[in-house]
Amino acid sequence: MKNKRKKIITRVKVWIKVSLAFAVIGLAGLLSVKIVIDIENSKLLHFENKMICGLQPESDRVNVTYLIPVRSDGQKNCWQQDDGSWGAQYDFYISNNTSATVKQWCLNLSLSDNARIDSSWNGVFIQNEGNVSVTSTEEASNTEIIPTGNVKVGFVLYTDELLDSIDFTLVCKLYKNFFENFWFVFFLCLSGLSLLTFAVCVILYFLLKKQSAASDAQIMELIKLCARFIDTRDQYTRMHSAHVAEYSKQIAKVMGKDADFQEHIFFLGMLHDIGKVLIPREILCKAARLDDEEWEEMKLHTLYGAEVLEDFNGVENIREAALYHHERFDGNGYIFGLKGEEIPLEARIICVADAFDAMATDRSYRKHLSKEKILEELEKARGLQFDPEVADAMIKLINTNEIPC
Ligand SMILES: [Fe+2]
Repeated sequence: MKNKRKKIITRVKVWIKVSLAFAVIGLAGLLSVKIVIDIENSKLLHFENKMICGLQPESDRVNVTYLIPVRSDGQKNCWQQDDGSWGAQYDFYISNNTSATVKQWCLNLSLSDNARIDSSWNGVFIQNEGNVSVTSTEEASNTEIIPTGNVKVGFVLYTDELLDSIDFTLVCKLYKNFFENFWFVFFLCLSGLSLLTFAVCVILYFLLKKQSAASDAQIMELIKLCARFIDTRDQYTRMHSAHVAEYSKQIAKVMGKDADFQEHIFFLGMLHDIGKVLIPREILCKAARLDDEEWEEMKLHTLYGAEVLEDFNGVENIREAALYHHERFDGNGYIFGLKGEEIPLEARIICVADAFDAMATDRSYRKHLSKEKILEELEKARGLQFDPEVADAMIKLINTNEIPC
């Protein structure tokens, strides 16, 4: 897989996770703020007024004012009955000086027991002895009072004496607009933008993966071709590269590596011995054991492999896998004598897979080893030639017959 594309896909995956996390935070915040506002909106509030004449609104509250029957300009809206009682017209103004909408309002008045309402407008009046409650009517369209708005209700009231004061309380709910709450808007924007980013990243991720799969398939074909070329040069190691690739992949799986890594190590396994194309055929195909000089030449296939793969950027670490796959965990390998985790993990895995395939197949100078002998060799070389964790994975694969031998 192209390094650049892989890095972009990794970054897109990170963005998917981050945007999803922010979307969850945003939605949780949005829900929390909504619950708080809903609780606030459901509270019944009491506004009390006493003896406020004319329109004298106070800010940031709901005011109720009313006009007394005899006003200062002398104009009267009252009259005396034959029995001496007074009839008068009372007009109430409910003004909303808050930033919320007034809903479900009810104006409660305290009157004398013998007070009697004769007619009314814009409101529904319920009289219970001296207590009168006034509520809105749908016909008057005054069930809600918008911010800075007001409604007018009134009635004709008969009392023994003209009233110059009325005690009243307005009970109502104040509905705050969600979009006027800073945190609601903040969390709405956060979740909206995060979900948008999430959706874009998911689409981008699948497009890149699709493109990447097509590109990987092409690289795989090329690598298979190279691997076949490597293996056909030596009749005793035919299919060796493909076997090492497959074993490496299975070892990685047992070690808990993800699918991307398993695919990656498979590519590396296919070309780990590519340097053998530069080894003379008489050495490569020699039926007997190699002498010291030939063996020294054979060791160079790691360096040759690194040279061949020097400028190949199609698969990450492919050069390192070819260069270091004969290093030993105890530092006694070739060509650099690297030790432990100085050796790249990919090379440590290929080292075990390579050795296993060598033991499990017939070679020019010996027959393949038995399962018991292979397990014994792996145990013996665990921590010496092989990374113990990788050797354990291989042993497990053999014991469970996932890799038969
Ligand atoms: Fe090799």
